[in-house]
Amino acid sequence: VAKDPSINNYEYMGKIPLLNSSTESLPPKVCSYIEECASLCCPKDIYICDGSDTEYEHLLNFLEKNGTISPLPKYENCWLARTNPADVARVEKRTFISTECKRDTIPIPCEGVIGELGNWISPRDMEKAILERFPECMKDRTMYVIPFSMGPVGSPFSKIGIEITDSAYVVCCMRIMTRIGKNVLETLGNDDFVKCLHSIGVPKSDSKIEINSSWPCDPERTIILHRPDKNEIVSYGSGYGGNSLLGKKCFALRIGSTIAKDEGWLAEHMLILAITDPKGRKRYITAAFPSACGKTNLAMLKPTLPGYKIECVGDDIAWMRFDQEGRLRAINPENGFFGVAPGTNCITNPNAMKTIFKNTIFTNVAATSDGGVFWEGMEEEISDDVEITDWRGKKWTRGSKTPAAHPNSRFCTPIQECPVIDPGWEDPAGVPIDVILFGGRRPEGIPLIYQARNWQHGVFIGASMRSEATAAAEYTDKVIMHDPFAMRPFFGYNFGHYLNHWLSMTKVKNAKVPAIFHVNWFRKNADGKYLWPGFGENSRVLDWILRRIDGEDIAVDSTVGLLPKSESFNLENLSKDVNMEELFSLPKSFWEKEVRDIREYFDMQVGDDLPAAIREELELLACNVDKL
Ligand code: PEP
Ligand code: MN
Ligand code: NA
Repeated sequence: VAKDPSINNYEYMGKIPLLNSSTESLPPKVCSYIEECASLCCPKDIYICDGSDTEYEHLLNFLEKNGTISPLPKYENCWLARTNPADVARVEKRTFISTECKRDTIPIPCEGVIGELGNWISPRDMEKAILERFPECMKDRTMYVIPFSMGPVGSPFSKIGIEITDSAYVVCCMRIMTRIGKNVLETLGNDDFVKCLHSIGVPKSDSKIEINSSWPCDPERTIILHRPDKNEIVSYGSGYGGNSLLGKKCFALRIGSTIAKDEGWLAEHMLILAITDPKGRKRYITAAFPSACGKTNLAMLKPTLPGYKIECVGDDIAWMRFDQEGRLRAINPENGFFGVAPGTNCITNPNAMKTIFKNTIFTNVAATSDGGVFWEGMEEEISDDVEITDWRGKKWTRGSKTPAAHPNSRFCTPIQECPVIDPGWEDPAGVPIDVILFGGRRPEGIPLIYQARNWQHGVFIGASMRSEATAAAEYTDKVIMHDPFAMRPFFGYNFGHYLNHWLSMTKVKNAKVPAIFHVNWFRKNADGKYLWPGFGENSRVLDWILRRIDGEDIAVDSTVGLLPKSESFNLENLSKDVNMEELFSLPKSFWEKEVRDIREYFDMQVGDDLPAAIREELELLACNVDKL
């Protein structure tokens, strides 16, 4: 990036040239944070991002010259990045929260049991980990300073961060995923901000991993650290997604959830959508599903049911708080979609396909010889005569044993490009939430939909969530993992305390808590075939939910919660024959095992930190299952 011509001489930060700004024009707190990071990392120079179009063009140019990205001439301003094959997903085992007291971060698991609800590190060991990695790590690189806002600039919901990084790819993605630049610094003034230090790192000389200059990283020493009491994030060694775009998982969820607990609100791993019914009434729904379980698809769903319209507010994160009238209101703190590419096509998500071919950075997808992209699921969208290059840059043929695109390959695209973006998506007051959905990828036993009897039961349902492992993190087999609230990798503090915080929401003044439901689009029959067609047909589930909260007499209590009364579900013109009986069945042996597994998980992982109210709900479920 060229130096700003308005500044006659480079200003120096210590001995390091500050390319395009003056220390005087920066808020003093920002200035001293930059100074602190610069003296640790010793970059070649420092560049303060202004968020302008010219700056973005310069950075893309630089990345292209460096071989990090290549243009995709089939589309408008789209780029393809290929990462080091050792740097392709979040690394949960190397992600830590640091507090003086371990129990503030994680419940103490049973003796001999490995904790699954986050990793704790002492402040002293965190300091040590930093000092083992960061000194001089930016020696040959520019240090970029990104002032960013999570949430619309100036909204009372919003929070500001400063990300310092030596990756131009990270700057470009942060520009898509958050609001960055000058006006953020102006809004910040000399207030506090969340400190986010990131470096792609420099491997040790004896490293066994091959590192190409197009994607520098240090996979062997990757570490992602959080200090909630200092609102500080430090990330080393990975340039990928949730490890490096620190506004997203690190800030908006981990640090966000700790701020939310202290301030009395909720920071959740949830999509937000608006749904308008045939009578023209519009309601907002949030939904928590684990990574790569279809949040993006649901967030911009094209309903098959006539008369319905869905508009998107966000596909990954919701910040929610009760207003004076006791309405739960939510904002999407992000400005873009960092979505999983494979599986996305004109049938599964037509609106995403209209969103992602403009101003997008693709990462680890395959490329076509006509200058486009390809991934598993796009077979019908490309012509048969194009040649395909896989995500590693090797020639790929149809029928090949390895996937063309990495299963966790992504599109990083501005929300603005979405054709069904909700007009209220940037409302600084947030949108009013009527319904909360929980769900996961459950091939067995869990019905398509059921409703919680009340808030406490709903919190128990969130706490008991499980899902098949996906490619979004390092776990590789298809085991059913516990993933409470879809937050397991993202809790910023002790899960038991998190449950208490959720339970306490009914005590907020005037609070009218939303109705809670559990959905499962992924149930299979004995032959391994999906029982429910999913995608656009999921509008039928939303239709039942809306009629239900309107007070229609369409639910009946069951072992697990409120199920649809027979005939109450709208199946008119359903594209496929569905075995509703099997889809809603509650096999006794399955639920006996489910109760055992949940009990063991609570006992082993949460122990004394499990709220009595949640234990009570588990015993009630156990009792009901006995009577099946
Ligand atoms: C990521 O994995 O990098 C990410 C941003 O999120 P998720 O896993 O929720 O898709
Ligand atoms: Mn996510
Ligand atoms: Na995985």
